[in-house]
Amino acid sequence: MPKVTIRPKNIVVEAPEGTTIMEAAQVAGYYWPTTCGGEGRCTTCACLVLSGMEHLSPRGPSEERVLAEERGPSVLGQPVRLACQAQLHGDVEVEKLGVRDPHSIGLESGAE
Ligand code: FES
Repeated sequence: MPKVTIRPKNIVVEAPEGTTIMEAAQVAGYYWPTTCGGEGRCTTCACLVLSGMEHLSPRGPSEERVLAEERGPSVLGQPVRLACQAQLHGDVEVEKLGVRDPHSIGLESGAE
């Protein structure tokens, strides 16, 4: 199964081929920042692809349009993908701040 390594927290998840990056993290129990709920409209889920871009489904016209509208056209020249749209076809390494295990927050607040 394709593996996703998420920096900077070094989270590693696996998911069946064709799963999106965001789904892979969510199914494994991790929170992934989103505003639109994975509908490809908000770009809150966008991540930097550090390696394995060739193992992701290509950007579609809708993803390119939303990224350019929300982040400026220059983003299209960068290895940035919407995690809710990019489907896994092999191992990738991405950088995304804010991805976290919701259980760790419960432990932190419970220790107060
Ligand atoms: S979650 Fe909104 S664009 Fe991906």
